[in-house]
Amino acid sequence: MSENHCNHHPNLQPEMSSPDRYAVIGNPISQTKSPLIHTAFAQECGQNLVYTAIEGPLGRFAETVDAFRAGGGKGLNVTVPFKLDACAYATDLSDEAQAAGAANALKFEGERAWAQNFDGVGLVRDITHNLGQPLISKRVLLLGAGGASRGAVLPILRQNPARLFIANRSVDKALVLVRQFRAQGASERLEGGGYDDLGADAFDVVINATSASLSATALPLTASAFAADGLAYDMVYGKGLTPFLRLAQQAGVRQLADGAGMLVEQAAEAFAWWRGVRPETRAMIARISSPLV
Ligand code: ATR
Repeated sequence: MSENHCNHHPNLQPEMSSPDRYAVIGNPISQTKSPLIHTAFAQECGQNLVYTAIEGPLGRFAETVDAFRAGGGKGLNVTVPFKLDACAYATDLSDEAQAAGAANALKFEGERAWAQNFDGVGLVRDITHNLGQPLISKRVLLLGAGGASRGAVLPILRQNPARLFIANRSVDKALVLVRQFRAQGASERLEGGGYDDLGADAFDVVINATSASLSATALPLTASAFAADGLAYDMVYGKGLTPFLRLAQQAGVRQLADGAGMLVEQAAEAFAWWRGVRPETRAMIARISSPLV
């Protein structure tokens, strides 16, 4: 990945050439912040591109993407409910996309469609760089065993935590995930089970990858899961103090964060993958963040 940062050098490319086309595809899509983020990145990095939002008709992902490519489209971000379709569509999968069984970014080159999943990398980069919490030797608890959780497992394990425990309401799904990643070489530091299996264990970093915060639902989690000096991270953004973050606050957790930074960091990874330059993320994170109250 390029660490070739760009800083405010507007329009290095001639205005005459037509801009490269990118988009985010999802359904629904009206809530997306990706066009705002990528358009600002393009301005910052002097990249001649347009980035739009496509509401993909359900069940017609491949046709919609084919039409986008036929119109000169160079790359897509992919969001709910098409992340699995994006994986199936691709000709080439990154390790992350393969492990997650889901892709959130596509790049088109001739007949090839490359798939990546930057959600987990974006999460880890937000935690380690922006929030200043290295994961090495930390006890990490990942809540949920759906697509969001699956995408985070490999990038977290690469940071060498002391322990990564995946807890899920449906215990079987957590165990299947653990078995799958162990079969791919994950060590015994990766464990899984139900919320009851946590006992009184405490974790330095607790990440909520469930969809419970979307409906402001509390998780079957007790305050003892949080180490006081740690970090509680909710992958959703713009929902304020979710029941998960409120529980963490009541437990005395020092640092609380939502997924605004993860969103911007995964966007920066995709931008760098497509364009070869990595935008600065701090100003954009500040711009799209809302207070945790
Ligand atoms: P995503 O792709 O966002 O991960 P998903 O695949 O539907 O979405 O997974 C949602 C996750 O949130 C699951 O782990 C789900 O737990 P179950 O597998 O037991 O269904 C979890 N989840 C959703 N609502 C929850 C709740 N109220 N309490 C606990 N877990 C919840």
